[in-house]
Amino acid sequence: MNGEISGRDAEIYLSAVHKHGLDKDIRFIRKYARFPVGSSVLDVGFGSAELLKFLHDEKGYNRKLFGIEKSPDLFNIISQKIELSSINLLLGDFLDINTSDLCGMDQIVMSFYLHHQECHRGHIKKAFEVLRPGGKLFIYDRILDSDEYRNDFTRFWYDKYLQEHEWSEDIPNLLSHESMLALAQEIGFIVISHESADHDSRIETRNFKKKIYELWSIGNIANVSACFLIHPMYINLLDKILGDIMMDYCGSFTCDFNDVVYSGDLIKDVYPGLPWTDLLSEWTDEIYKGEVGRLIILKSNDHWAKILHHLGIAKRKIRKKYGVCLGPRAASGNYMAMYNAFHVPEPWELVDFLRLIRCHLL
Ligand SMILES: C[S@@+](CC[C@H](N)C(=O)[O-])C[C@H]1O[C@@H](n2cnc3c(N)ncnc32)[C@H](O)[C@@H]1O
Repeated sequence: MNGEISGRDAEIYLSAVHKHGLDKDIRFIRKYARFPVGSSVLDVGFGSAELLKFLHDEKGYNRKLFGIEKSPDLFNIISQKIELSSINLLLGDFLDINTSDLCGMDQIVMSFYLHHQECHRGHIKKAFEVLRPGGKLFIYDRILDSDEYRNDFTRFWYDKYLQEHEWSEDIPNLLSHESMLALAQEIGFIVISHESADHDSRIETRNFKKKIYELWSIGNIANVSACFLIHPMYINLLDKILGDIMMDYCGSFTCDFNDVVYSGDLIKDVYPGLPWTDLLSEWTDEIYKGEVGRLIILKSNDHWAKILHHLGIAKRKIRKKYGVCLGPRAASGNYMAMYNAFHVPEPWELVDFLRLIRCHLL
């Protein structure tokens, strides 16, 4: 199994892949993974690069985008088509890349990639090495509900799927749900969540649906706990916000927390790399002048990652409830700061947060 799509197949693949639900797949991955503002994303085996283009076109997010592709034919066609300056494309086998060329990624996506590989383990392990501590790996692929459905899949592939498949391809080497869990844990990931794609509703694929997995690389941050920030403008609502969060999101877990104050310097130190750092710094100086926010650190427990995950998903809903405060207008432009009641750091930000808290606690 060589894995790459090359030669005449590369051209056929590019003209036919949209018929296979690619647009719906991309929207599903985007909704599930979110890919926050300013974060870095590596798409492994980018194929048609449609996911990278989609993420690039969401301009306000200013993501740092990278892709690697083994097929020189696909790489050449795609790299002539898209703006190379804003998406960094590499040609090569993911297993062979020098980890230092791409190291420190916030997020990696493997979309319909792993089934091309003879040995899944090496590719998941490589992703672990390339991610920064707290980084996330999203695996999207057709997954067997259980190994016992492998023969059903083989029958489906030869009897049905190949009849409507345009480019030539080896039979996919599908992972099963249990092998995914075992491999991820053995390599050092925690499996945060998984979900089947509801747009993949063919009755004959019910035991090997398209499915996404969210894995967090928490190896050396395992003793950290979840934390979130309450903005100075919302301090008068602190008890109410805390009560809501504890009840709705930590209720089933025993959750002690430390509540500490932080200053604007913490924000500036944790987010130095955002595209609008100068603006952020100007606003932060203004807002935090004499004011402090509150940092809620849940004391370490076995569920911190799940709690952080749930808060990350729910933050939009909770923020909506408390509305948006308008901050100062920046002197350098006509931009007005907007503040939400609270912020939930991504797991990779947590590492910086907890390191910097020690320097910035008032
Ligand atoms: C089925 S395509 C998926 C493309 C895209 N990710 C998507 O979801 O539409 C898998 C891609 O992975 C590439 N590929 C396979 N093995 C690879 C490897 N070891 N390193 C980099 N790319 C690889 C193939 O050439 C192909 O373009």
